[in-house]
Amino acid sequence: MTDQNALKRAVAAKALEYVKDGMKLGLGSGSTAEMFVEQLAPMVRGGARLLCVPTSEKTAALARKLGLTLASLDDLAPLDLTIDGADEADRNLDVIKGGGGMLLREKIVAAASKQMIVIADESKLVPRLGRYPLPVEVVEFGHKSTAARLGAALAAAGYANVPMTLRQRDGDTFKTDSGNVIYDCALGSIRNAPALAAAISAIPGVVEHGLFIGIATTLLIATAGEVEIIERAG
Ligand code: A5P
Repeated sequence: MTDQNALKRAVAAKALEYVKDGMKLGLGSGSTAEMFVEQLAPMVRGGARLLCVPTSEKTAALARKLGLTLASLDDLAPLDLTIDGADEADRNLDVIKGGGGMLLREKIVAAASKQMIVIADESKLVPRLGRYPLPVEVVEFGHKSTAARLGAALAAAGYANVPMTLRQRDGDTFKTDSGNVIYDCALGSIRNAPALAAAISAIPGVVEHGLFIGIATTLLIATAGEVEIIERAG
């Protein structure tokens, strides 16, 4: 196991401490969230009654294989707690997600949860968001036109000539679980995340973006010696 994987496993283990019998849980996506799901399974085998909503088909398949009980968000909302990974996080608990392409369901589930705990190894903690290209999910119909408007909106918001890449996988255009495409926007440094989020969301054809602002309630960051707990202020 690489050191980074050991940190992911450690932070996933720490998140288990927040899970209580009878909870309705959102299950995130990505390798760190999957490690959490793997560690949740013994708790369920031990008798914990948990109902879970997965944020991706991949997480759903893993959870099913491990014997977790899944239900639809509409049947369970509001959820008690969602545990998910991140591509970047800062100490204000603002987060970039979507590196795995599941940002839409991840955000819907997190927004429908009373608490969201973000789990990550220390490489994801940054002083300012933006080094990680921001994923923007766009409806496939007219996506090049939407991307042009997105570029113009970014420029108007003070981010000129942002490299925007239509995400590919295995030689084809990547499609999300909802059948949309993703443009990864290399912003470099995000100065005002709420204003940027609002400008992107206002574009017709944009379904969602990977900025999670004011959603996470706790950030757990694994370092070599410990897991740091960062709580939302106020
Ligand atoms: C999935 O769309 C993402 O939001 C993931 O949560 C994020 O990419 C973190 O993934 P890892 O835990 O694999 O780094």
